[in-house]
Amino acid sequence: MSKQQKNDDLDYETTGHSWDGIEEYNKPLPKWWLYTFYICIVWGIGYSIAYPAWPGIKAATPGLLGYSTRGEVAEDIARVDALNGPINEQLASVELTAIADGADLHSYAQNAGAAVFKTWCAQCHGSGAAGAKGYPNLLDDDWLWGGSIEDIHTTITVGIRNPEIDEDYARVSEMPAFGRDELLSEEEISQAVNYVMQLSGGTPLDAAAAEAGAVIFADNCSSCHAEDGTGDRYQGAPNLTDAIWLYGGDYAALMETVNNSRYGVMPNWNERLSEAEIRAVSSYVHGLGGGEASE
Ligand code: HEC
Ligand code: HEC
Repeated sequence: MSKQQKNDDLDYETTGHSWDGIEEYNKPLPKWWLYTFYICIVWGIGYSIAYPAWPGIKAATPGLLGYSTRGEVAEDIARVDALNGPINEQLASVELTAIADGADLHSYAQNAGAAVFKTWCAQCHGSGAAGAKGYPNLLDDDWLWGGSIEDIHTTITVGIRNPEIDEDYARVSEMPAFGRDELLSEEEISQAVNYVMQLSGGTPLDAAAAEAGAVIFADNCSSCHAEDGTGDRYQGAPNLTDAIWLYGGDYAALMETVNNSRYGVMPNWNERLSEAEIRAVSSYVHGLGGGEASE
């Protein structure tokens, strides 16, 4: 810049550099731009020292301020937990039947329960709780294990068919695999299935087989499904007379059920959810439409 000269023709300052007669205008960056640029560099260095910035092999540099987005989320959660602490404590300690009595407690349980359901239950029972094959509909009053708030609470706490955590064997039972384990012959199973089709109000494939099936049923099935086929909630044995099927009521589905049994399993929730959350979702399920009064 030292040899600045004036270009007479254009009236522009040049830097004085000249290559084969080609000259370079002297147009420095505007000062405001340059200083803003310097400030950005200084700010960037400061920021990368104060906050997590440079990627490393396992994690980024932590920054002197110790800030982390995870920490911020954890703080938010802790704040909400602290706010909900008293009502959660109340929810976890009152009598189950009293949850419905307190207006505030009940509406809190319903809302919290709906959130728990969406997160943990919807993938099996459906977002609307209407269920699917093998996963019971929780909207109706047809219960495998009972529809009082206490029954529902037990079911959710220990899950279904988890003998290792269900010490009271409250939700453990097993229908024999009559075909696979050769407890009944193919013909006897077919007869029992014809009888079950008739029990549920349908038409058996073969009326004579259904008649023979009644005897098979009384001998082999009634201990769990009851003499009249209406089931037994202590054993989670479904009512076979209501035409509400967990696994399907056509001949092929029934043959499969009786040949191999089904052994539907639900995870226990006591290790994943807090008592307040279990009670909230119990109250939610109880309120879906099929909830029964406690005895
Ligand atoms: C992995 C799939 C799965 C998930 C997740 C699941 N369930 Fe279940 N649930 C089942 C199955 C399967 C059964 C039926 C088991 C049987 O045959 O008795 C069941 C049965 C039930 C029953 C008993 C219904 C009756 O008729 O007695 C209730 C109540 C229930 N679930 C509530 C819940 C709640 C609340 C959650 C969420 C916290 C949940 N389930 C999550 C699979 C699941
Ligand atoms: C030890 C008790 C027990 C005995 C004995 C028993 N069941 Fe079951 N049954 C169950 C249980 C529990 C279920 C629930 C399904 C499961 O295992 O997940 C069931 C389910 C069924 C279902 C499916 C219902 C549905 O909604 O899809 C049919 C059908 C059935 N049993 C028929 C029979 C017949 C027929 C016999 C006799 C040959 C029989 N059961 C004997 C306990 C029993």
